[in-house]
Amino acid sequence: MTTTTPASRAARLLSRPIALGGLTVPNRIVMAPMTRMFSPGGVPGEDVRSYYARRAAAGVGLIVTEGTYVGHDSAGQSDRVPRFHGEEQLAGWAKVAQDVHAAGGTIVPQLWHIGMVRQQGEAPYPEAPAVGPSGLVTAGAEPTGKAMTQQDLDDVVAAFAQAAADAERIGFDGVELHGAHGYLLDQFLWEGTNRRTDGYGGDPVARTKFAEEIVAAVRAKVSPDFPILFRYSQWKQQDYKARLAETPQELEAILSPLAAAGVDVFHASTRRYWLPEFDDSGLNLAGWTKKITGKQVISVGSVGLDGDFVKAFQGQGSPVKGIDNLLDRMEAEEFDMVAVGRALLQDPEWAAKVLADRFDELKPYDADALKTLS
Ligand SMILES: Cc1cc2nc3c(=O)[nH]c(=O)nc-3n(C[C@H](O)[C@H](O)[C@H](O)COP(=O)(O)O)c2cc1C
Repeated sequence: MTTTTPASRAARLLSRPIALGGLTVPNRIVMAPMTRMFSPGGVPGEDVRSYYARRAAAGVGLIVTEGTYVGHDSAGQSDRVPRFHGEEQLAGWAKVAQDVHAAGGTIVPQLWHIGMVRQQGEAPYPEAPAVGPSGLVTAGAEPTGKAMTQQDLDDVVAAFAQAAADAERIGFDGVELHGAHGYLLDQFLWEGTNRRTDGYGGDPVARTKFAEEIVAAVRAKVSPDFPILFRYSQWKQQDYKARLAETPQELEAILSPLAAAGVDVFHASTRRYWLPEFDDSGLNLAGWTKKITGKQVISVGSVGLDGDFVKAFQGQGSPVKGIDNLLDRMEAEEFDMVAVGRALLQDPEWAAKVLADRFDELKPYDADALKTLS
């Protein structure tokens, strides 16, 4: 009888290619989007190129870039976050895509509008107001920004669609729409920040209308097989305990219109992938997303983050946080791909080590990794 070690099972399950729309991704490991603020003037430079290319060369199948602002004056607030509009900025991004492809990887930009999280008066558009569905930054807050007019909504929809068209034109493999973590799209999805009464607020279906219009506008501007990923979360950076949906039925009301509008892949953002989402099942948020929509789904949250994960490769450590739990879920097809954030930020070789059974070389995460773009 041959025995299968946890290690070789990891390599087998994670190294399978997958087709997302017209794109073939060489394996199941995704780099999670991570804002790094190393792009002065909003232009990703040579260091950003090599940061991503290094990870593609070392086995990451699909890179989701850090959030990058769409072309709307209120979309962002930092001049060091890369922008996805403007000649110089897009030229920088085109080179990032080229380098990632040359290294054997695939890449999508994460298109971002921060909405009410913007603190007024910062670069690159100091005069622009913070905007959102109702001018609220979090549940129960007093309005501190502008409730968006129909014109504002139309402008932002157009900005996302233009950014997606540009992504395809300059050589990216798809786009991810940032609908998570309490930023603009999520401010519409979440009733805590969406108090509108005009068809964009109210029940979950109405609160989804704005994101749905963005997906449909993007779909109309790109090729039919150009993959659209949509990232969403229950948690908000304003409130980790907030939830969009208390039941699978409420989640379905949000996800179904998005799927129908053209989303190919959902990226269900959780902080710990092993936690069940609703009471009556062990499925995590990604698992429920796949069950509800039938679409391909990426899971994420604390993969490879602590010593337990490393030890579990060697048959010790927590069975919950370790690799076996993740692989069981992948084997059961609970979700299709797994995104890795901080572990990959720290170690560009993380994917190569996992795919080649070099588990002894994995190291626990250290927050010092945030300081550089290595
Ligand atoms: C430094 C940093 C920046 C992040 N920036 C983004 C971002 O721009 N967009 C996004 O959707 N998530 C962002 N995230 C969340 C990550 O994509 C990911 O969901 C989270 O870190 C959990 O994965 P991990 O436990 O593997 O790190 C960021 C996380 C970190 C640590």
